[in-house]
Amino acid sequence: MALTHNFLLLFCSLFLISSPHSIAQTTFRPKALVLPVSKDPSSLQYLAQINQRTPLVPVEVTLDLGGQYLWVDCQQGYVSSSKKNPSCNTAQCSLAVYRLKTCTVDKKFCVLSPDNTATRTGTSDYLTQDVVSIQSTDGSNPGRVVSVPNFLFSCAPTFILQGLAKGVKGMAGLGRTKISLPSQFSAAFSFPKKFAICLTSSNAKGVVIFGDGPYVLLPHADDLSQSLIYTPLILNPVSTASGYFEGEPSTDYFIGVKSIKINENVVPLNASLLSINREGYGGTKISTVNAYTVMETTIYNAVTDSFVRELAKANVPRVASVAPFGACFNSKNIGSTRVGPAVPQIDLVLQSKNVYWRIFGANSMVQVKDDVLCLGFVDGGVNPRTSIVIGGHQLEDNLLQFDLAASRLGFSSSLLFRQTTCANFNFTSKS
Ligand SMILES: *[C@@H]1O[C@H](CO)[C@@H](O)[C@H](O)[C@H]1NC(C)=O
Ligand SMILES: *[C@@H]1O[C@H](CO)[C@@H](O)[C@H](O)[C@H]1NC(C)=O
Repeated sequence: MALTHNFLLLFCSLFLISSPHSIAQTTFRPKALVLPVSKDPSSLQYLAQINQRTPLVPVEVTLDLGGQYLWVDCQQGYVSSSKKNPSCNTAQCSLAVYRLKTCTVDKKFCVLSPDNTATRTGTSDYLTQDVVSIQSTDGSNPGRVVSVPNFLFSCAPTFILQGLAKGVKGMAGLGRTKISLPSQFSAAFSFPKKFAICLTSSNAKGVVIFGDGPYVLLPHADDLSQSLIYTPLILNPVSTASGYFEGEPSTDYFIGVKSIKINENVVPLNASLLSINREGYGGTKISTVNAYTVMETTIYNAVTDSFVRELAKANVPRVASVAPFGACFNSKNIGSTRVGPAVPQIDLVLQSKNVYWRIFGANSMVQVKDDVLCLGFVDGGVNPRTSIVIGGHQLEDNLLQFDLAASRLGFSSSLLFRQTTCANFNFTSKS
């Protein structure tokens, strides 16, 4: 009894001590953050501006959905009075590395392995921290700017930028690590470990929203997070990065495609390619770094053949193919619909027959010339690391929500059906 009483007293006094402090600190805490993203027409990469450093400067980076963390060139033009390098025996270093720390010989610095996933070039450089500022959102409009004073990222040498869009100084990784952008933002502001991407096909602005819904796109007022279809996110136990330690899992987001249907007909595939084997080969991942969906050769051939056969039934002749695509058609013979060219729908069938990601013409077809439309899938060769990589063109004008706590993906299918697009976030602030 006495013990309980003492405990209560202690508890009360702690409460009294801490409460004036928390009242004094009425700092604004955002529920979500918004990062505009646009597509670079020449590299087909999705670019965002991260405001970083002291004084703040906009740093253009390529969005990398499965990437480990933010990495930026520190070798050229990095000026900041707030840049720090956490040493080897810090909590930041433990958070940033996978199990085994790699440090400089003098133990002074914590070393990471930034990866240019567009060219598959890896290197190593220092774990670094600096101020990052970003706009908050209520899901409909941008709100006030907030900052994370000690945002962790990796420095990188200039040469690793090769292959990225002009003007780009690094990559923004949204992958499965404790220091990816979604993880750090959720931790900094204590909001749910969820984020959504909505990419545009033009150089209009799409968005990444860190945090939970509502997600609202004009001209409607409805919350798109309430009408998503869910599928489990799958962890590939073997890293897909260009350099990694044994036992390190992949930071990419995989989903369980079980079969593919075209106009409701099952495409005959070697199903074992659709699961991830012990060496980490196979399976289906989502990538913002691949412009188009890439499929292992036998899957690619089977899908292309079925697609061509279905279009032939509708008297659409095939024309000479235009690289990198293998199946092209005269677009004069293809009608148009609200969801793009009127072509057979492609279903990625997931955990059950009634859960599928349906791909319509706007996401399956690419206009390569005035009168030529090609199926926007490319041949990934034999024995690729990942059998299906769902690429950018197939993601555009689809809202995807990654729920890291529940390990599930929510997807909307084409927003064109709902008469909106990913370019319709209202970037005007409320007054
Ligand atoms: C199916 O794919 C697996 C994995 O690549 C391969 O080992 C197997 O031989 C393939 N089966 C057929 C029938 O081609
Ligand atoms: C965008 O948001 C602003 C601020 O809330 C509002 O005044 C404006 O009407 C919105 N735009 C449209 C097209 O609804």
